[in-house]
Amino acid sequence: MAFILHLQSPTGQPQPRRVIITGAPASGKGTQCERIVAKYGLVHLSTGDMLRAAVKEGSSVGLEAKGFMERGELVPDSIITSIVIARLDSDDCVRNGWLLDGFPRTEAQAIALQNAGITPSYVVGLEVPDDLLVERVISRRLDPVTGKIYNTKFKMPDSEEVVERLIQRADDTEAAVRTRLVAFHANYDALARAYPSISRVDGNTTPDAVWESVEAILEADPK
Ligand code: AP5
Repeated sequence: MAFILHLQSPTGQPQPRRVIITGAPASGKGTQCERIVAKYGLVHLSTGDMLRAAVKEGSSVGLEAKGFMERGELVPDSIITSIVIARLDSDDCVRNGWLLDGFPRTEAQAIALQNAGITPSYVVGLEVPDDLLVERVISRRLDPVTGKIYNTKFKMPDSEEVVERLIQRADDTEAAVRTRLVAFHANYDALARAYPSISRVDGNTTPDAVWESVEAILEADPK
């Protein structure tokens, strides 16, 4: 049981996994997060979901973030960083481990995490060519009730009731995704430098094949 031994703390207690998953828009982070959470019970913190919930509530964070998100720009570091760091300190994250999806996304966010003493045990980077990402974004649909991710080309719900309630995200347009890709490429090298132990995964295969790679990484000793 190597994976339990290496996850032990100095007191001999098993340590839950602390995972960062990173990758371009529509590289499949959310899709793989569903599987990671189902297998390991980590607390899933998606900054995109947190910000979309804030926009829906009309909170001050949501009002500030809305325009940036709709244009496909990153929201300022100052809006999101303190929210994430506070959340990682919560009992459930400490007890169960966590899965950060979409954070850190800039060098400043990575430095803020490091300064707060927050270190991942695994960093997974999903890699997919840009042109495929545009196609995936345009065909993505979301179930607003369960949060499940679908795709008009290959993964639609069996239930007609669920099909009827599917929505498209406001930033899932070709123009916004091109802006999101520019932001991603401008920041990815800095993130890879901040986390030299990043495990790069070919995300341009089926979701099942991507999961096999992700699961193998999470079962191995942290680098
Ligand atoms: P966020 O919600 O994090 O969006 P994102 O990073 O652009 O990623 P996506 O959610 O679009 O894609 P995904 O990788 O999860 O792919 P998915 O699994 O859905 O952020 C949105 C916005 O919030 C940002 O633009 C920014 O404004 C703001 N924001 C968030 N965090 C921030 C931060 N830290 N700092 C500043 N601003 C921040 O898959 C996509 C589609 O592809 C689906 O239809 C799926 O079915 C399909 N698919 C998945 N895997 C495969 C596969 N292997 N093969 C074929 N299709 C696949």
